[in-house]
Amino acid sequence: MTSSHAARDIDTSRPHSARMYDYYLGGKDHFEVDKQAAEAVAEAYPAIFVCARENRAFMHRATRVLAREHGIRQWLDIGTGIPTEPNLHQVAQSVVPEARVVYADNDPLVLKYAERLMRSTTQGRTTYIEADVNDPASLLDSPELAEVLDMNRPVALSLNALMHFVPDAQDPYGIVERLLAVLPSGSALALSHCTPDFDPATWQKVTDIYNNAGTPVQFRSKQDVARFFDGLDLLEPGISVGHRWRPDGESSATDAEVSLWTGVGIKP
Ligand SMILES: C[S@@+](CC[C@H](N)C(=O)[O-])C[C@H]1O[C@@H](n2cnc3c(N)ncnc32)[C@H](O)[C@@H]1O
Repeated sequence: MTSSHAARDIDTSRPHSARMYDYYLGGKDHFEVDKQAAEAVAEAYPAIFVCARENRAFMHRATRVLAREHGIRQWLDIGTGIPTEPNLHQVAQSVVPEARVVYADNDPLVLKYAERLMRSTTQGRTTYIEADVNDPASLLDSPELAEVLDMNRPVALSLNALMHFVPDAQDPYGIVERLLAVLPSGSALALSHCTPDFDPATWQKVTDIYNNAGTPVQFRSKQDVARFFDGLDLLEPGISVGHRWRPDGESSATDAEVSLWTGVGIKP
């Protein structure tokens, strides 16, 4: 699909999660309606900016650990978001220049900027698929995916700040199971997920803002996030608050500010 086609599909009448997240990260790729909803979230939960930054930082560290210590050379990143440097392939290719990354998102604005995700090293490869995680079969059947990923070799499935947009009624655990089922042994799941565990009242307000904006969300407890890793070998330190997963420096953030459960598991 071309950028102009994508531009026609962009709905600026209501806030979108990718564009609100862009606002939290200090980006410029959002509209007034997104800014208003994001500011309402920030009023209820002023640490949303910390949470968004720590979420990106977890993605960077998890990607590096998988590339350096677990021989991962291929990633399937679903719910990519509006490109924000460094993007996952830039982190991966800084460790292994031949890394291959397939990005997928269902927001047309992400598609509009997808060329920013294609600036791969010459040794590596990246591509972008417009796809919905709720339809894993179509995503996995995509010819673009088959062109970039060798499904006989380990792939890291990267689901960062995505699964809280898939309420239980949409079978989130079944979706992750179906995605992991086609990946060979040695593949990985890297996942981050917002949680109400540290401040339920605040997160109820955040839930209401998203739900009222037409974006259903379900923020989950540690126990419920851990279920996504059923059948996988969790890497140390297990399911952790984002800034506590293999920190590479000091973070002054508190658990309540970060409010993200994160983990990385390997398929036996
Ligand atoms: C909070 S952003 C996270 C971006 C990036 N993964 C990160 O962690 O920095 C969530 C992304 O998931 C995408 N998303 C939400 N629901 C989705 C769905 N059903 N299928 C695919 N992508 C979805 C949104 O468009 C948005 O880009």
